[in-house]
Amino acid sequence: MKQDMIVVLDLGATNNTAIARAIRALGVYSEIHSHDISVDKLAQLPNIKGIIINGGKNNVVNGVKIDVDPDIYKAGYPIMAVNHDLARCENKRDGWPQNEEEVKEILKSFVFDTCQAEANWNMKNFIAAQIELIRKQVGDKKVLLALSGGVDSSVVAALLIKAIGKQLVCVHVNHGLMRKGESEAVIEVFKNQMDANLIYVDATERFLNKLANVSDPEEKRKIIGAEFIRVFEEEARKLQGIEFLAQGTIYPDIVESGTKTAAVVKSHHNVGGLPADLKFTLIEPLYHLFKDEVRACGIELGLPEEMVYRQPFPGPGLGVRCLGAITRERLEAVRESDAILREEFAKAGLDKKVWQYFTVVPDFKSVGVKNHARSYEYPVIIRAVNTVDAMTATIEQIDWPILLKITDRILKEVPNVNRVCYDLSPKPCATIEWE
Ligand code: XMP
Repeated sequence: MKQDMIVVLDLGATNNTAIARAIRALGVYSEIHSHDISVDKLAQLPNIKGIIINGGKNNVVNGVKIDVDPDIYKAGYPIMAVNHDLARCENKRDGWPQNEEEVKEILKSFVFDTCQAEANWNMKNFIAAQIELIRKQVGDKKVLLALSGGVDSSVVAALLIKAIGKQLVCVHVNHGLMRKGESEAVIEVFKNQMDANLIYVDATERFLNKLANVSDPEEKRKIIGAEFIRVFEEEARKLQGIEFLAQGTIYPDIVESGTKTAAVVKSHHNVGGLPADLKFTLIEPLYHLFKDEVRACGIELGLPEEMVYRQPFPGPGLGVRCLGAITRERLEAVRESDAILREEFAKAGLDKKVWQYFTVVPDFKSVGVKNHARSYEYPVIIRAVNTVDAMTATIEQIDWPILLKITDRILKEVPNVNRVCYDLSPKPCATIEWE
């Protein structure tokens, strides 16, 4: 499968992603690589048609201007150097224009006229190319995958099932903090519909016991993260002959990993650090896809829309929405109220509009009246936010009738709840989650 590629070498620019995306928008595949990639490594990438050396304000390290491997200039690839005084090539620019249309014209001329690349990048070709690569790499060995049911792990699963079928072993750990119907949906789609080799582990009791009486949010996250690895590790040890571990790492995870601000507001614990004696070779077939491309890939592979367009859901799940020390009673209140919210949002078409929406149950009670008697029960807080990158967020201005309908249903249908509130706080000052 031939798929032409333009490589963007990051020499301290801040718009690498925008450039790579703009090239992909022209129908030509593009990958971003670090400026210090060696010419040999570069030569191993398939079908390189040209290189953009993308310089920028971060190109001085320890007072010295950095450059790419000098042999790259001699390797015969068409090269365009932007914002790079040291460039030893003819095709040089002092910077990118502000105007997107002008950037597009520059790229068009470089990609198609100078590099003679063909516009053959699309999801079908990407999938076919990945399947070929995966089969070549895996041979007759087995691959393990932690399948949470999130977009990325689901798309990886679907791709690997297509490539190697039952040689993929999926492990779905239910930590008891999943949303209503979520684990069931994973089993239905992957085991029943796609005939995957799926191991389902119900570890609810283990997690809830470990979390009993723990109220500090970071402590809760650490426990959930560590326990997750432990359960997954136990399952991995039971299996024979696994050589590979598949992960749903996607482009933004990589591109942003070096640029994130240093201050940790919350640690994001998902699957990570398996013990060193469990040696796996990593397979990350979505490594070069942006989120919208991951979704397109999932649709092309036949995954249901609800799964592919699912709102983000934190690794620690409802555990950080059942505030303070988790109790089963309040956890059920979070799960049931969340299910009502999701149902009503879907009915109102808000599920396609709002970035993230959920309910929270705090660990205090308030007084109310129910059936002419005093009640002393928990409140449910509704949160619905919009954001581009989750670093800042604004609240969705939900129409009153919809909010009232949701409130009414929660008060009628969810036990132990006598009050519903709507959170109006943007990020900052608040974060999206309450913990
Ligand atoms: P905050 O609450 O920090 O959330 O404004 C930003 C985004 O990150 C999600 N989030 C998490 N995701 N593990 C995750 O995988 C976590 O521990 C975690 N905490 C927050 C949150 O849902 C929102 O989308």
